Amino acid sequence: MKFSFSNPTRIQFGQGQIGSINTLIPKDSHVLVLFGGGSIKKNGVYEQVENALDGYNWESFGGVEPNPTIETLDKAVALIKETGVDYILAVGGGSVIDGAKYVAASAVYEGEGWDILTGKHTVDNALPIGAILTLPATGSESNGGSVISKKATKQKLAFMSPLVYPQFAVLDPDVIKSLPHRQVVNGLVDAFVHVCEQYLTFPQNAPVQDGYAETLLKTLIQLGGKIDNKDDAWRANLMWSANQALNGLIGSGVAQDWATHMIGHELTALYGVDHARSLAIVQPSLLRVQLDTKSAKLSQMGQNVFGLEESDDIALRTIDAIEAFYQSLEVATQLTEHEGDKQSAVNAVVEKLKGNKMLSLGETGAITPEVSEQILNLAV
Ligand code: NZQ
Ligand code: ZN
Repeated sequence: MKFSFSNPTRIQFGQGQIGSINTLIPKDSHVLVLFGGGSIKKNGVYEQVENALDGYNWESFGGVEPNPTIETLDKAVALIKETGVDYILAVGGGSVIDGAKYVAASAVYEGEGWDILTGKHTVDNALPIGAILTLPATGSESNGGSVISKKATKQKLAFMSPLVYPQFAVLDPDVIKSLPHRQVVNGLVDAFVHVCEQYLTFPQNAPVQDGYAETLLKTLIQLGGKIDNKDDAWRANLMWSANQALNGLIGSGVAQDWATHMIGHELTALYGVDHARSLAIVQPSLLRVQLDTKSAKLSQMGQNVFGLEESDDIALRTIDAIEAFYQSLEVATQLTEHEGDKQSAVNAVVEKLKGNKMLSLGETGAITPEVSEQILNLAV
């Protein structure tokens, strides 16, 4: 095993921590507060940010949409160039934080911003970012990933860079009291799939990564079994587990999958399916199609996470248990929310995968567009 692990994001965890941002953002910064469609203006978070930024020179830019688009974000980039902003404070869920990462990199790049997503430009500079998380799900608050959509072409692509890790992330469990049930469930499912993407591959004799992944999975299942967004500990545990699910630790040194995400992104780009829901549609079918390569880890997960007895069909029973978990949250595990008939949706996703060069996905690269088609057909 060989890896380099660094997570430079300082986590400010707990109630009231928004107030601490003025100890973390240099006083002479010119700050851009980036936010979404307005939830932070209704739940008191914006007011807390305003108070904490007292004495700073700051601008604000709202309207970053779920599944943030380059069309909107480029307006924030223009504002930065116009005003000389040199620090970005993202206040929101994964969409706003991902948007902040794109804006931070694009503001100091002279070419077309989309180059960052296509890989034509490798990020070599970025403005510093701080994050106040309002929706536990993506882990974006302390990782170097960002997923951006282009409305014009219905594309949704990702980039990664060590230069866009937020310098700090505030995780105040009180800010999620205002989350709609749908978003709470989305967060549970997204975090659960993040762990699976790094754990459900093949045995690699990595008991530290495996053990922590299993703890996170068990915690998410427990939280999902008793959703209580009014309970302080419940909210804190959701926030912490979603963060730990994708901060790089459990994926260090081990093969990772991510095919569910890549196929799911196309469902979102084409039909606007919520990110987490796209994953629940794809993953059970993907696991069934990939049963042979994944059977050892599925068996391990069945025993250690779901407490199943060993048997010849334990791998399949584990997939059933994963699917039942999503269904218990009333999240669909079959193709829904698409336009037109199901077969044309399958064809459209497969064409998009080809167009975006998603030709060999998964931990062994075995998921070609033909295999993706097989997976989607199983989800019809
Ligand atoms: O826009 P506002 O008004 O704030 O409302 C948002 C939005 O409508 C609302 N919301 C957020 N916090 C709230 C709240 N409503 C009430 N109270 C609060 N405290 O929730 C809605 C969804 O927000 P969004 O940020 O889109 O959700 P999420 O955090 O699930 O982010 C999804 C995005 O992250 C990407 C996805 O592809 C998608 O674009 N991902 C990013 C990853 C990463 N950077 O590592 C990994 C993930 O796998 C994922 O792909
Ligand atoms: Zn995800």
